[in-house]
Amino acid sequence: MKTASFLAEIETRHAARHQEDRQRLLPTEISPISFSHNDYLGLSQHPVVIQAAQQALQKYGASARAARLLAGPCPEHEKLETALASWKETERALLFSSGYLTPLGVIPALVGSGDTILLERQAHACLFDGAKLANARLRVFSRQDPTSLKTILDSTRSLNPKGKILIVVESLHSMDGDIAPLREIVRLKSEAGAWLLLDEAHASGVCGPQGAGYAKEYGLTSSVDLQMGTLGKALGSSGGFVAAQSQIIDHLLNEARTFLFDTALAPAAAHAALSALSILRSKEGDQLRQTLHKNISHFRTAYPSPQEGAIQTVFCGSNSAATSASQYLLQHGLTVPAIRTPTVPSGAARLRLSLSACHTPQEIEKVTAALRSLPTS
Ligand SMILES: Cc1ncc(COP(=O)(O)O)c(C=O)c1O
Repeated sequence: MKTASFLAEIETRHAARHQEDRQRLLPTEISPISFSHNDYLGLSQHPVVIQAAQQALQKYGASARAARLLAGPCPEHEKLETALASWKETERALLFSSGYLTPLGVIPALVGSGDTILLERQAHACLFDGAKLANARLRVFSRQDPTSLKTILDSTRSLNPKGKILIVVESLHSMDGDIAPLREIVRLKSEAGAWLLLDEAHASGVCGPQGAGYAKEYGLTSSVDLQMGTLGKALGSSGGFVAAQSQIIDHLLNEARTFLFDTALAPAAAHAALSALSILRSKEGDQLRQTLHKNISHFRTAYPSPQEGAIQTVFCGSNSAATSASQYLLQHGLTVPAIRTPTVPSGAARLRLSLSACHTPQEIEKVTAALRSLPTS
């Protein structure tokens, strides 16, 4: 019997990726005008945020040096958790070392075999990966179709009356840029006795009062069981968090494995995020959001699109069409990433633009003019 070869399989998969035009390479070029960063308010470059990181680096060094439960107290973590909980109107928050690792710890700590996870069909990879690790039954629904959610909730309840149900949804979708019908989702989950984990990765900092996200905008912070976010987008740093009532946070602190067994967030990242958060919640934060929303309106006037937020997409269809469009824009001095399968479904490859408060009106003009002039093939 022939033994399976690692290299033979690696080569086969490499060839398939090439054939389908989805081979990924690290970027070698970036133009000064970039629409690829999720730093929606430009806070990663803010002098006060940079200074906060520098101060923490001086004080604590470059690393937290151990998992949180072993490393001893770190005031930067604690202050940030208190501030995040207040921002999200919850009792407490818990930090993780990345947004990606947050649901990988949180979801399996909440549900397991005998339970069901209802996940929106196009959810971010980290939500799918967290759901897979949980070993619960996984069912998908369309986030823009509350009727489909109700049908799945009803059938899950009748098939498995004793199991817990966890609904997982993004408020502002990372790849489609649309907003989930949160009020209906919350109503349905409450009627069904399910819990909701709401990922506000792309809404936090950008939407709602003080940028606290859609749960706050709709007055739903006490109805959303767990609010998840990242420090790596509008908060201009890196790391992830979940905000919830104290009892849930205590549970996660004991059972979320990506919290328990991972080196804690670097204190410098925590202090940078804390400083970004206080800017976000200040008048300056309101002004930055106003500038961002002006940029969004400017973009949508010059290049009409259905997306109301900072994430704008241009559908290309095939992977190769998206790659060519991205290359065309790069030749015009603009970095706009092509999003291909498997990040998005086959045939739905696209350009994805993250608009920021730091983009100038001239940059918005330039990108929209270039988009209008994209060759049609
Ligand atoms: C919806 C969503 N959740 C979670 C994450 C992970 O966050 P991070 O990149 O900070 O690890 C992302 C990242 O793009 C995301 O889009």
